[in-house]
Amino acid sequence: MHDELRQLTGTILVTGGMGFIGSNFVRYLLREHPAARIVNLDKVTYAGNPRNLADLTEEPRYVFVQADVRDGEALGKALTAHGVDQIVHFAAETHVDRSILGAGDFIRTNVEGTQVLLDAARAAGVRRFLHISTDEVYGTLGSSGAFVEESPILPNSPYAASKAGADVLARAYHVTYGLPVIITRTCNNYGPFQFPEKFIPLMIVNAFRDVPLPIYGDGLYVREWLHVEDHCRALARVLAEGRPGEVYNIGSGEERTNLEVVREILRLTGKPETLLTTVKDRPGHDRRYALDHAKLRRELGWAPAIPFAAGLRQAVEWYRGHEAWWQEILSGEYRSYYQQQYGERTA
Ligand code: NAD
Ligand code: TYD
Repeated sequence: MHDELRQLTGTILVTGGMGFIGSNFVRYLLREHPAARIVNLDKVTYAGNPRNLADLTEEPRYVFVQADVRDGEALGKALTAHGVDQIVHFAAETHVDRSILGAGDFIRTNVEGTQVLLDAARAAGVRRFLHISTDEVYGTLGSSGAFVEESPILPNSPYAASKAGADVLARAYHVTYGLPVIITRTCNNYGPFQFPEKFIPLMIVNAFRDVPLPIYGDGLYVREWLHVEDHCRALARVLAEGRPGEVYNIGSGEERTNLEVVREILRLTGKPETLLTTVKDRPGHDRRYALDHAKLRRELGWAPAIPFAAGLRQAVEWYRGHEAWWQEILSGEYRSYYQQQYGERTA
């Protein structure tokens, strides 16, 4: 079924399209918006995986450009050569734990890369610049309440701080230059093609391999979980009908403690709770995130459609059916990362 609301047309530059959400979004656009063309610009870092879109090599509405978002010349060329008129900016360093090990790449890609891309967008005169941000820019919550779009920006991790820098830069380009920027801030996504350093896929692949499932601290940290397919549908809606200069929260209302999620993964994989291991906590660990997404519901008529229970079951089945995809990741750089991240924690 095509989205019954406005169809996207023109040429959309997607940055970071070889990553988790970006690759799902490219697929979503090709399927649901047959009049849109896509240019995927990605540096292909450890998190970018050409296999995520390997089946698209013959697709006439899709082009891949390997480049760094900090490379203004490459951006200018790609925007002009392909007649890009809209940008959806996903490319980023995205893992909080890696940002704690070292923030340099996060500042370079997330802050500087966004600035270079915003300048290229201005020069090209695009009609939409959709900037993908995160609930983590708002900081942390106590046991009740939810962030609204006007909540203060109080990031706590180097990752969140770098995303906040990008977010406010994008806003400033709208105010200063009239660039048609729209910002979305979403909660924790999950689903197919998520790199197994993130919580849900890490726990699923560890469970399949009978490797301990490392829970940080007391495991009572709360995250709000959104299926990536619901997120992609929201983004297409915002790109088509959102108002420039506005911020839209994209949430699901599906809040869970980490322990609840892991117990469910163990049940779905048929593995014992003895695999569950408490490890040293993450420094500066945000206790709870929750988004109020009433604005998106009210203005654009979007609502999440995939309940967490069904979405998690589907995700577990996807990882069960794509062992070659994650085994290949586990055999590379991931091994030294895992040792560095978890070796000391579990010692
Ligand atoms: P990911 O880590 O899976 O993918 C990031 C992609 O960006 C990779 O393909 C990588 O190669 C590319 N990239 C990194 N640096 C680049 C550079 N300098 N130039 C060009 N490409 C580069 O990330 P994701 O989980 O898909 O997240 C996508 C976006 O959504 C990010 O901006 C992230 O901050 C935001 N976000 C993600 C979540 C989540 O739960 N995954 C939640 C909120 C917001
Ligand atoms: P993560 O996927 O890193 O997302 P974020 O920190 O950006 O929300 O982590 C989600 C939650 O899971 C967070 O509270 C940290 C916790 N966590 C663990 O307990 N163990 C792990 O091995 C990882 C990666 C995360």
